[in-house]
Amino acid sequence: MIIHPQIQGVVARSCHPAGCQAAVNEQIDKATQQHSQDTALPKRVLILGASSGFGLASRIALTFGPANAKTLGVSFERGASEKGIGSAGWYNNIHVANAAQAAGKVAPNIVGDAFSDKVRQQVAETIRNEFDGEVDLVVYSLATGVRPNPENGEFWRSVIKPVGKAVEGYSVNFEHNRLDTIALPPASEQEIDDTVKVMGGEDWLGWMEFLNDQQLLAKGCRTVAYSYIGPERTHDIYHKGTLGLAKIHLHQTRKDIDQLLAPLQGHADIAVCKALVTKASVFIPGLTPYLLALYRVMKDKGIHEGCIEQMNRLFYSKWNSDARDQEGLIRLDDWELREDVQQAVNPLLDTITPQNFNDLGDYDGVLREFLQLNGFAFENVEYDAPVDIDTLKALKP
Ligand code: NAI
Repeated sequence: MIIHPQIQGVVARSCHPAGCQAAVNEQIDKATQQHSQDTALPKRVLILGASSGFGLASRIALTFGPANAKTLGVSFERGASEKGIGSAGWYNNIHVANAAQAAGKVAPNIVGDAFSDKVRQQVAETIRNEFDGEVDLVVYSLATGVRPNPENGEFWRSVIKPVGKAVEGYSVNFEHNRLDTIALPPASEQEIDDTVKVMGGEDWLGWMEFLNDQQLLAKGCRTVAYSYIGPERTHDIYHKGTLGLAKIHLHQTRKDIDQLLAPLQGHADIAVCKALVTKASVFIPGLTPYLLALYRVMKDKGIHEGCIEQMNRLFYSKWNSDARDQEGLIRLDDWELREDVQQAVNPLLDTITPQNFNDLGDYDGVLREFLQLNGFAFENVEYDAPVDIDTLKALKP
């Protein structure tokens, strides 16, 4: 079969395994070019949400970069079946594991629901068997819309809505290459609470308590979760909306985890990342016009970064420095929030409309990154070559 991109709104319904390999290889190349004299980099790392976006980039930076760490990746992905080709993250996992093995490194995958007890047990077993019984870093990079409530088996569902007022704006539609007008009503109290349950810090703390109880955390163990704040312009939809409230909960949880890790002389961090095209972020209604403007400006200024550049900067220049803001957060959004960047972004945002978004914003660049997340739009991949579905079905992460 020949695999074509199938896009529905902002969701990719197909992916190209060879293109996913190209994407992983590009990131590996960038990680291997890093240099660091730091002798205190993590060596055994658990990454929750390792198959795409920031989690995948963290994994590649740590496995293939100067840290040369063993990494255990947990993600929720699906392989090829009668129903379809599977998800990009499934193939990313396979390509990372293969590349690691070829380079004599250790990077096993566990694919399953990180909220389930079964996956926790699998993680514990793998750490005991393959990581000498301990990890010295836990990266928490899950992005999801649902979390099961362990008490009644029902699901908390997150919503992406403003709080206290309605918001109108535009959202990109990759299926039809257009900017759609959107109107978001304010979230209800229940929706706010549920979003905090899904994307706040409770599960991060739960994982750290589990790993601590099982004595799987090394002395000096650290953990990091990723957050977003963004400029004033995006606050109605993000920072002061449901997701932002969940992130504030995440930030507060850092202190609980610090306490938990104190006997180990461990520490929890939040890294505030820049706005980037990922499977999760394009789903945030109203944020995409900002991405179009931001990409244009940061590229013009020569300071555009993707997930791997951000994670290389996190681990190889900020990690063991005392670069924190007054709240103790690591700021990887420092270039995004630079005054000259925002001063150039704002007038663009004022003038972007469904008629001119393609000229004013970097729509081509944003679309290309979106397609590449799913293995499309790479120049060196032969998309006309047929792919054998049975061969794909045999691939396991
Ligand atoms: P993503 O969608 O690219 O990756 C999410 C990962 O979570 C995938 O590996 C997926 O398999 C995994 N996952 C989801 N549900 C799971 C489950 N139940 N069990 C196991 N694995 C599961 O997302 P992205 O954008 O990399 O987000 C990661 C974190 O970074 C989030 O906390 C997000 O808020 C944050 N962030 C994202 C920014 C952006 O612009 N994309 C900016 C700043 C922070």
